[in-house]
Amino acid sequence: MLDAGGQYCHLIARKVRDLGVYAEVRASETPAAELAGARGIIISGGPSSVYDPDSPTVDPTIFASGQPVLGICYGQQLMAYLLGGEVRKGEKGEYGLATLDLAETSDPVFGGLTRRQQVWMSHRDVVAAPPAGFAVTGCTDTCAIAAMANPGRKLYSVQFHPEVVHTTHGKEYLANFVFAVCGCIKDWDPRNRVPLIEREIRECAGDRKVFFFVSGGVDSSVAFALTIRALGADRVRGVYVDTGLMREGETEFVRRLPGLTVDHAADQFLTALAGVTDPEQKRHIIGEEFVRVQERIVESRHLLDENWILGQGTIYPDTIESGGTAKAAVIKTHHNRVAGIQRLIECGRVLEPLKSFYKDEVREIGRELGLAPELLDRHPFPGPGLAIRCLCSEFDAPARATAEGCVLPVNSVGVQGDSRSYAPVLAIDAIDYDRATALINRLSGINRVVAPVETRLPVREMQTTACSLTPERIALLRRADAVVRRLSHESGYDREVWQFPVILIPLGIAGAPDSVVLRPVDSVDGMTARSVPMPEPLLRNMCRELLQIKEIAGVFYDLTHKPPGTIEWE
Ligand code: XMP
Repeated sequence: MLDAGGQYCHLIARKVRDLGVYAEVRASETPAAELAGARGIIISGGPSSVYDPDSPTVDPTIFASGQPVLGICYGQQLMAYLLGGEVRKGEKGEYGLATLDLAETSDPVFGGLTRRQQVWMSHRDVVAAPPAGFAVTGCTDTCAIAAMANPGRKLYSVQFHPEVVHTTHGKEYLANFVFAVCGCIKDWDPRNRVPLIEREIRECAGDRKVFFFVSGGVDSSVAFALTIRALGADRVRGVYVDTGLMREGETEFVRRLPGLTVDHAADQFLTALAGVTDPEQKRHIIGEEFVRVQERIVESRHLLDENWILGQGTIYPDTIESGGTAKAAVIKTHHNRVAGIQRLIECGRVLEPLKSFYKDEVREIGRELGLAPELLDRHPFPGPGLAIRCLCSEFDAPARATAEGCVLPVNSVGVQGDSRSYAPVLAIDAIDYDRATALINRLSGINRVVAPVETRLPVREMQTTACSLTPERIALLRRADAVVRRLSHESGYDREVWQFPVILIPLGIAGAPDSVVLRPVDSVDGMTARSVPMPEPLLRNMCRELLQIKEIAGVFYDLTHKPPGTIEWE
């Protein structure tokens, strides 16, 4: 899988692995010689135009290697461009569903597929003329060359995205390429890798011991359990830091992992955060306190001497996001690290047993190890915890009624264009996704839209009150979050969504200074996300229980997709 910078690159590799075939992501410019062992090559989509300076390219000799190559979206344009076809710069893009008409073809990539099918498009430039030797194999109303092929040279390409679910036969298309064209066999199953991973762990550790900072999330827990299985419990130590910013029951939950000790650092974190309102400052302080705690732990337990190495729950997309390939956007901000740990990493005293697996594969490995489903199916939870879901305010300010809705004087983070924005929220009167999306696009100065589900007074009569991050407000959020988690678990709704943050905002009325925002989202990897609706009875139940908490003035529903809003509010 050659990564030309598209957010769908990992999705394609994962879909191929789901078919039972091993796929690896490499930088697009990887020399052909290094790809010689691959049975086939896929070039991903990407946001560039082939005419942009420094746009991603591939080693053109891959097209003459005899290996099958499939170009997807930008990959199709690049293939056309490098092989002498014509690419036309698009004035405006084509985004969304389209109907693909297949040419009369015996091409094996379209084997068994219906002649008309729904596909999903997201592109600006188009191929205007295929390279010599290529036939056009598919078109849509607006895209004359939606698929092309040179079967003699085993070169194939499509303008649409077979990897997304909206392309109804996308999976069959990829399967045809992988099996019928590349001749792969179905032999990849992460569960079978467990003995091999254990051997790698033993080789990497040698006669040293391994220590982990376990967060309680899926990745670090599975990595920790695997290492114990490979080396035995006496040679593995895990520490979970209770920052006081965790959800209800979290510490008790994580403690169930055998071999783990809990470091109680709540006072330290809450003292450092006292009086803070600014989101960046919160993150910074939490990062610094983490470093202090880690320093104390590694020093007091002598974990930096030559008998120890550091275990980490790094998974495959993390290695790429940290700069493993040239063009992938850097998405995760790096956590602060203790200098000693940084040195361990630099001199390779690190064990990362899951670094070539995707999250779903890590879950399968966890199941193979017999870990509890409650642990493996957990939603992601951010390291800074409830602190970044407990919004603060420096000022008292009223909600402001406008023609479109009420502007709430609460700032949240968004991703608009390439940069992060920090702007107020608009409350509209109904859970109406189309209106919410249109308003965010139209109005400058807001980056998020919510709808009140139930409030004690009309929204225009509510106001924010100056407040900071206090233990009381964190406890209030923890209580509200526990209500939401219990009800979504009992109803099974938690299995339908990818993540379900609950946010406390300092918007209220006299005697009830805060409100709760519900933010259930669907996502594949957190890089993009869709706000999703919730069954009405569940929503009403949640509201009723939340409003039994006397400090809560209202319950709101976040209608914002990502982009333009981030999943978290800070
Ligand atoms: P955003 O808010 O950027 O979040 O749309 C995307 C995903 O990342 C998680 N997230 C974090 N995870 N430390 C973490 O470990 C962080 O500082 C952090 N910030 C956001 C977020 O929960 C979502 O799953």
